[in-house]
Amino acid sequence: MPSGPLKGEIRVPGDKSISHRSIMLGALAVGETRVTGLLEGEDVLATAAAMRAMGAQVERTGEGAWSVLGVGVGALLQPEAPLDMGNSGTSTRLLMGLVATHAIETRFFGDASLSKRPMGRVIEPLSQMGAAFEASEGGRLPLTVRGANPAVPIEYRLPVASAQVKSAVLLAGLNTPGITTVIEPVPTRDHSERMLRGFGAELDVEEIGGERVIRVRGEAELRPQVIEVPGDPSSAAFFMVAALVVPDSELLIRNVGLNPTRAGLVHVLRQMGGSITEVNPREVGGEPVADLLVRHSPLKGIAVDPAVVPSMVDEFPVLFVAAALAEGTTVCTGLEELRVKESDRISVMAAALTGAGASVTETEDGLTIHGSGGAPLRGSANSRVKTHLDHRIAMSMAVAGLASKDGVEVDDTRPIATSFPQFEALLDGATQ
Ligand code: S3P
Repeated sequence: MPSGPLKGEIRVPGDKSISHRSIMLGALAVGETRVTGLLEGEDVLATAAAMRAMGAQVERTGEGAWSVLGVGVGALLQPEAPLDMGNSGTSTRLLMGLVATHAIETRFFGDASLSKRPMGRVIEPLSQMGAAFEASEGGRLPLTVRGANPAVPIEYRLPVASAQVKSAVLLAGLNTPGITTVIEPVPTRDHSERMLRGFGAELDVEEIGGERVIRVRGEAELRPQVIEVPGDPSSAAFFMVAALVVPDSELLIRNVGLNPTRAGLVHVLRQMGGSITEVNPREVGGEPVADLLVRHSPLKGIAVDPAVVPSMVDEFPVLFVAAALAEGTTVCTGLEELRVKESDRISVMAAALTGAGASVTETEDGLTIHGSGGAPLRGSANSRVKTHLDHRIAMSMAVAGLASKDGVEVDDTRPIATSFPQFEALLDGATQ
């Protein structure tokens, strides 16, 4: 709906990537890991249920507060029933890594969106480590993993810039004798590396010839931790763009994780002329965090450097919305990975924005957006946005609706609960 300015302050929920990892590693440590600020979205709850099914005790002790009693590396139990991964690619790919080097057989299934997503990218390295897979056509869910024990340590150069693939191999390496090596030609989010070190794994990272070489020593003993999960920059993104595009807004977004491997959107929005000020920079749970003061700003179109893509891979749908309201043209390239997210985010956003009155051109690896120069979009009250079970499409188009004449109607808001259950309440609160 068209809205008045965003004012006051909000606090975004815990980081999804870090929440998944804190439950998984907690479940592999011997003893009790305590987590606060955990994101209680459906994706993370799917991870919690899976770790429970494999023997860990995972309990909620308060709002965002969880206790995980781990079983120890190598001691995961075979789940009695197939694991329901819902909409969550991160749960699926990271857990496939974990079970690949345990002597158990595990079946994974998920919703219609997840069942279309490619799993070959993790099946390939994990097969090299000795695991066996029975997957549906095209290397998709439902699939069964038969873990290898003992597994074979590998050196694997990532063919796609994917933190999920990197993390799957590193997690598999935890229960593999010797050293497992992942080489990243392009750096991706490094939460797994940071947290593995925090849990006491022997992990080192070296820059060699412009690549990141990550080595983890297997048969690790992990020590339980006390973890405070910082706020999710990917959730903050919707509010950053909303405050930039709605006139007279001034919003303080508290507790935003600013790990350099995640903070690309902040830099790109500033390059477009956005006023985003970091207040009270600090460290939370081994990650850089700040509060962000965001003020409405006239934005101008830019050519987005494809080198920043991995550091804002989930933020393009909402960046497209900012670009649709900017002055001039924004050109985004190097986005082929967006086609295999919860939906094909290039064509789904192209259709959604066109339906809302924006002018965009889809290319094979990106989107070119001709901005309105700050004039509100027409809106799409008469043609509902198709979200294709993708939370980030629903939230991005809700932000577009704020800066439209007729509002934007979204066909299905339920997927928002996978990553940001408080989204609508926080938006209502900030726009009152
Ligand atoms: C994630 C990695 C990214 C991202 C996803 C979360 C993670 O996926 O899109 O939302 O937690 O490792 P890819 O590894 O497929 O790029």
